[in-house]
Amino acid sequence: MADKGLLILGIETSCDETAASVVRDGRTALSNVIASQIDVHKVFGGVVPEIASRHHLQLINGVVDAALNEASIERDEIDAIAVTKGPGLVGAILIGLATAKAMAYALGKPLIGVHHIFGHICAALIEHPELEPPFLALVVSGGHTSLVDIRGLSGGPGEMTVLGSTRDDAAGEAYDKVARVLGLGYPGGPKIDAIAKDGDPGNAVFKRVMLEDGSLDFSFSGLKTGVLNYINTKRQAGLPVREADVAAGFQATVIDILAAKTRAALAKTGRGTLVLAGGVAANSALRERMRLDSEETGTKLFVPSPVYCTDNAAMIACAGYYMYASGVTDDLSLDACAALPL
Ligand code: KG4
Ligand code: ZN
Repeated sequence: MADKGLLILGIETSCDETAASVVRDGRTALSNVIASQIDVHKVFGGVVPEIASRHHLQLINGVVDAALNEASIERDEIDAIAVTKGPGLVGAILIGLATAKAMAYALGKPLIGVHHIFGHICAALIEHPELEPPFLALVVSGGHTSLVDIRGLSGGPGEMTVLGSTRDDAAGEAYDKVARVLGLGYPGGPKIDAIAKDGDPGNAVFKRVMLEDGSLDFSFSGLKTGVLNYINTKRQAGLPVREADVAAGFQATVIDILAAKTRAALAKTGRGTLVLAGGVAANSALRERMRLDSEETGTKLFVPSPVYCTDNAAMIACAGYYMYASGVTDDLSLDACAALPL
């Protein structure tokens, strides 16, 4: 029989995606099943935690079976089970965790609790076999905006240093809030990405908040107020508000800040490799800007395909593989944690 490599089943339920995946040797996704609950939550304008948990519970067994079927893998061929342990919605995480624990116990397989953000960072390993640490990662998601120096893949604090993080809203959160102000619905990121293409950022200029000299932290909470003020000022003057211009102006502001901080972090660490990760990394304008900047600075850039940027379980299986290879496993007392430091 052909060698199937080391097979990790990944499970991810930290927000509104119920996801499972089988990854071979940490790099090849044999399946990547994602059941999105967006349609359930969009009527509320955002994710409703209890509804998310209930849907995860309904969907999880079918999603895991689909991931195994798509990969043509039997349950007992799995070498270990990796699952998101946090951060995220605790009731949602618990559904994935309970499923992973039950499978690990029943099959007698190791269990690996993965930090969701470490998972996002590892997403770039899936399609890029040549990517190896050390590298700098810019993580931009709905809950996080961080610059992380990665020296190894054990997932432990000894091999990761957070160089800067948002002090208030995450980049994705800013996208979602501004989309709500513009009446574009949830989730806002992809909608702003789409309409900004027809806008002129020069018509809606917002402040680039860079914080103190040398700081690699971010602050995006003022941007929503800036957008609201812009809209109100226009309306009071009886002038029309072009949504596409607001979207383009807002997006250019976020991208300028992300790009400037990333350049500063690359200069500070001397790293020559950059990984873009998290849901906002699916943004077309951010991807293009990072590509141009990397060309200019001679940095090797690795960006996952959009499906591996937003929440998925392949990234969790991939991270789990490297943790397992470093000897990291958990016992069945593994707990979910809503706010988990990297
Ligand atoms: O990583 P993710 O799927 O979930 C979290 O871990 O938070 O990120 C979700 C975030 C949302 O705020 C969503 O609006 C944003 O990623 N997002 C985007 C795009 N696609 C998703 N933001 C900008 N442009 C996009 N194309
Ligand atoms: Zn995420």
